[in-house]
Amino acid sequence: MHVVGTLFIMKLLIATRNPHKLEEIREIFDLPGLDIVSALDYPEIPDVVEDGETLEANAVKKAVTLALATGLHALADDTGLEVDALHGAPGVYSARYAGEHADYAANNRKLLAALNETDNRNAQFRCVIALAEPDGRAQYVEGVCRGAIARAPRGENGFGYDPLFVPEGHERTFAELASAEKHRLSHRGRALTEARRAWSERLAPEPEKPNPAP
Ligand code: IMP
Repeated sequence: MHVVGTLFIMKLLIATRNPHKLEEIREIFDLPGLDIVSALDYPEIPDVVEDGETLEANAVKKAVTLALATGLHALADDTGLEVDALHGAPGVYSARYAGEHADYAANNRKLLAALNETDNRNAQFRCVIALAEPDGRAQYVEGVCRGAIARAPRGENGFGYDPLFVPEGHERTFAELASAEKHRLSHRGRALTEARRAWSERLAPEPEKPNPAP
């Protein structure tokens, strides 16, 4: 942290090279004195291999690796789609459900095939966000969005499983919602709001008040 006038400036490194995620995080973490940078600003740091068995392990690994490499506070997220009838699968393997280099369409096809025989379409997106201190200590919070898996893909917006996911209380899939509406409901929006609540004092510390005159 350094001081400009009486305002403390703290850098927070976001462990992503995805400009859409970064934009969403910037909107929610608009704290005074917080300077948000991302992995795009540190091209020399290699991508962290997400080989944990849980969302928590991956988020913490990414945040701690970047914090130790840069000496900054670092924030990282990991998200999975957890389907009740599949006992929480694809979960931490959501990105590579249909294979190591599977695209979104292949993952969606595999999910529809896996649920072909069942009427239980209930599912949730779960997002874990970890914050690591420059010394490598980390904490995490989570955000959950419950919903159901549609019978066929619908909509053009978003990414990943969005064309198949109908958030609870809604008729349309995430891919049929405007992005602001999705962000308001989504697992990542909820996790980010919780992260801001839990860590805003740490990330945007008030300048110390001068001692009152005797
Ligand atoms: P990541 O941890 O954000 O990279 O997410 C892992 C995988 O989960 C992605 O490759 C997507 O398949 C899926 N995913 C994560 N967030 C979303 C979302 O908001 N909508 C749809 N799919 C998502």
